[in-house]
Amino acid sequence: MDKIIIEGGKRLSGTIPISGAKNAALTLLPCALLTDEPLTLRNLPRLADIDSFQHLMTQFGVSTSIAGTRPGDFGRVMTLEATRLTSTTAPYDLVRKMRASIVVLGPLLARAGEAIVSLPGGCAIGNRPIDFHLKAFEALGATIEVANGYVRAIAPDGGLKGGKITLPFPSVGATENALMAASLAQGDTVIENAAREPEIVDLCGLLCAMGCEISGQGTSRILVHGQNRLHGATYKVMPDRIEAGSFACAAAITGGEVTLQGAASGDMEATLQALRDAGVAVEEVKGGIHVAADGPIREVTVSTAPYPGFPTDMQAQLMALLCKGVGTSVLTETIFENRYMHVPELNRMGANIETSGRTAIVHGVEKLTGAEVMATDLRASMSLVIAGLAAEGETQVHRLYHLDRGYERLEEKFALLGAQVERVGEG
Ligand code: UD1
Repeated sequence: MDKIIIEGGKRLSGTIPISGAKNAALTLLPCALLTDEPLTLRNLPRLADIDSFQHLMTQFGVSTSIAGTRPGDFGRVMTLEATRLTSTTAPYDLVRKMRASIVVLGPLLARAGEAIVSLPGGCAIGNRPIDFHLKAFEALGATIEVANGYVRAIAPDGGLKGGKITLPFPSVGATENALMAASLAQGDTVIENAAREPEIVDLCGLLCAMGCEISGQGTSRILVHGQNRLHGATYKVMPDRIEAGSFACAAAITGGEVTLQGAASGDMEATLQALRDAGVAVEEVKGGIHVAADGPIREVTVSTAPYPGFPTDMQAQLMALLCKGVGTSVLTETIFENRYMHVPELNRMGANIETSGRTAIVHGVEKLTGAEVMATDLRASMSLVIAGLAAEGETQVHRLYHLDRGYERLEEKFALLGAQVERVGEG
C-alpha cells in the first residue's frame, strides 16, 4: 500500500489545473443507463472511484471505452453504451466499496422497470441511510422490497409515473436518484426541498442534453417533464470545487499563492468567503481563481450546511488550515455525525483542537510538527496532507488509497507548486 511523504515548510506557488469534479462525474456516469445510445463524458478525472464506477457499469452490460487522452494529460474521455441491459443487480461487493453506487437505482428502475442494489450500510463518516431515495421512488409508483441486505425497486406495469416528491432534507444523493428516475417517468414530477448543489445543476445539464425537459435546477423546487426515451450526448464534467478549495487551503497554510486554473468561483462562494474571513486574499482571474496568503491565518466560525452553505466535504481541509493560525475558530458539522476523525491525527501533529459533539474548537498554534498519520476517509486524508505541508520536518500519510479515490495526480499537482510531496510503496 502506498503512502505519501511530505517535507513540510515549502511555500507553495504557481498554477495548477483543476480536474473534473468527482462528485459530479459519479452522478453523470449512471446516466448512460437511461439510453441505448452512446454517452460521452469529457473531463472525467482519473480517479480510483471513477474506475470502480466504470467496473460497476460493466456489470449491467454497459460497454465502456476510454479514448483521446495521452498519458501526461489530466482528465479522460469515456464513452459508455448501454444498448441492452444484461443485469439490473448491483452486488454487495461493489456497493460496499463505493457508496456512490446507490445512484444506479434510479436509472435502472426507470429504464428496466426493476433495480436490485445492495444496501450500502454505514461508512467511516457516519450512518448514511437511503430512506429518502426509496420514498422518492415510491412517489413515482415504485414498490420497494428490502430483504437479505438488498433493496429491490419495481416499477408499476407501464413504467414509473410522474409525481410529487418532497424530500425531508435536501439530500444530494436522493435528489440525483429522483431526477434520473423522473427523467424516464410518464408525465411531470416535482421535487420539493431539492438539493441545490452545483453537481445537481450539472446532472440536470446532462439530462437536458439527452432530451429531458427540466426547470428549477439550482433552486429547491425542480420540475421534470419525463420522456419516453432519452438519447445519447457528449458532455463535459464541471470543475471540482472541492479539489480547488483543498489546494487553496494548502497554498494558504504555507503562506503561498496559487492560481486554480479552471475553478469556477460561482460554485464555491462559501469556501472562498471562509478563506477571506481567515485573512486569505481571493481574487477571480481570467479562467480561474487566485489565492494568496501573506499574513497570519485568522479565526473563523463556520457551520457545514447544504449548498449554498459551507460544504461538509471542505470541513477537514479548512480545519487543517485554521490549526496554524491566530485566535480560536469554531467549526460545526451539521451533515454527518462522525466527521472529525482527522482531529486526533491533527493533534498528534501539534494542533490544539477540542471536539464536543458536532462542534470543534480550533485554537490556532504557531507551529505544527511532522508525524506519521493516517485517516479513514478521503477529505480527512487531505487535511493531514495540508497540515504536513506547513509542519516542521517530515509527515507520512498512510492509506494513500483514500486520496487516490478523490484527488487526481495529487503529488504531480503539488510538484507544480514547488511542494515536496512524494509517493512511496510501503511494500
Ligand atoms: C453528501 C453531501 C455532498 C457530498 C457527499 C460526499 C450534503 C448535503 N451532502 O451527499 O455535498 O458531496 O456527501 O461526501 O452536504 N439522509 C437521510 N436519508 C437519506 C439520505 C440522506 O437521512 O435517504 C441524511 C444523511 O444521513 C445526511 C444528510 O441527509 O445527514 C445529507 O445526506 P446526502 O446529501 O444524501 O448525502 P450524500 O448524497 O452522500
